[in-house]
Amino acid sequence: MNQTNALWGGRFSEAVDAFVEAFTASVTFDQRMYAQDIAGSIAHATMLAKVGVLTNDERDLIITGLGKVKSKIEAGNFEWSIKREDVHMNIESELTDAIGYVGKKLHTGRSRNDQVATDIRLYLRDAIDGIQGEIRRLQRGLVGLAEREADSIMPGFTHLQTAQPITFGHHMLAWTEMLERDFERLADCRKRANSLPLGAAALAGTTYPIDREYTASLLGFERVCQNSLDAVSDRDFAIEFTSAASIMMMHLSRFSEELILWTSAQFHFIHLPDRFCTGSSIMPQKKNPDVPELVRGKSGRVFGHLIALLVLMKGQPLAYNKDNQEDKEPLFDTIDTVMGSLRAFADMMPAVTVRTDITREAARRGFATATDLADYLVKQGTPFRDAHEMVGKAVGYGVATGKDLSDMTLAEIRQFAPNANEDVFAVLTLEGSVAARDHLGGTAPNQVRKQVARWQAMLAI
Ligand code: ARG
Repeated sequence: MNQTNALWGGRFSEAVDAFVEAFTASVTFDQRMYAQDIAGSIAHATMLAKVGVLTNDERDLIITGLGKVKSKIEAGNFEWSIKREDVHMNIESELTDAIGYVGKKLHTGRSRNDQVATDIRLYLRDAIDGIQGEIRRLQRGLVGLAEREADSIMPGFTHLQTAQPITFGHHMLAWTEMLERDFERLADCRKRANSLPLGAAALAGTTYPIDREYTASLLGFERVCQNSLDAVSDRDFAIEFTSAASIMMMHLSRFSEELILWTSAQFHFIHLPDRFCTGSSIMPQKKNPDVPELVRGKSGRVFGHLIALLVLMKGQPLAYNKDNQEDKEPLFDTIDTVMGSLRAFADMMPAVTVRTDITREAARRGFATATDLADYLVKQGTPFRDAHEMVGKAVGYGVATGKDLSDMTLAEIRQFAPNANEDVFAVLTLEGSVAARDHLGGTAPNQVRKQVARWQAMLAI
């Protein structure tokens, strides 16, 4: 009999140091893969019975036993033990306690190395499905906002200086596009994660006549990993996921930055409902946009997880190394952070109200239609560079006299652009300016409505 409690105790003559036991255990964080671990074991046992390594009775006993273990975990009655190191050994030991010696046959023809690789892929696959659902929910909210504010004028910025008038709806649809790329990147990552490592065993495969295609079909994997060494050691899917998640958090951080600016007293463009904000313990007037600030802040930890995983993998020779246990916390925290951030945004965005009088006035004050005046002069035959110069002077005059271009008289405009006529005022209005950008991808309300319709069809709204 071995001196230790561990499932691998046969070779050991003394128990593992208590600190080392705690230091090397992963059960505190990998127990969240219990459902995937059990699903993987059920598929494995089913396959072993199919190829005659287990009897059907043994298979059934194992499957019933695993079901009991699962119920116990979900009832909160399972005692996770670091003595059993990880989720895999905790569940296997519990199974054997429950059904006796047949439980010890479950691990035939597999290793924790291919088992853990399978569990993480299953877990990530589910997580991606959940995240994609939240992306869709947020997109629906943004498209709703775009529809509501298709005609609302706001200043469009370059260099955070007023550039040209745009519609608020157009701005919301820019965010929707960014999220669509995130959705596609995740779908692409999911494809490669959806490959079965089980059967690679420790690293070289196994001597039993296993049927990996069958196991893959039971677990819904699209294909089987084709090389056992690669199967147990590959963590590309985790890196791809955190990479896609980093880009998405960068997007959410940019949205956040805009929301924070827009809710400030200086911009005052939008109103965030109180339930998404908090106050200050000292300054009674404060209402802080905590949700976007926190999402902006949380982007940093996800970028950090991407780097952590890249560095984790870069020095590892084939095949499995214990280093790989360090893949889970960055991966899980990335999933949680992305899910939480998307959820907060998806809840918050439909509740945003736009102060359209203020956004319109901000566009009016910033000489946002200067390009329109230049384009008007060009259409009359003035070369663009000359038109640019004339309008620049008119703006200088406007700054000095406190007048927007549309506030000037025709005589005033003619001081700089002698060929201007009465019809110039049509292009100097904000509404005229946005309506004129009426082509695919342009800011015209007409185009915003077309895009909204396209999104509604795509998102089945
Ligand atoms: N807890 C381990 C992990 O997360 C499971 C695989 C351990 N395999 C081994 N041979 N030590 O990677």
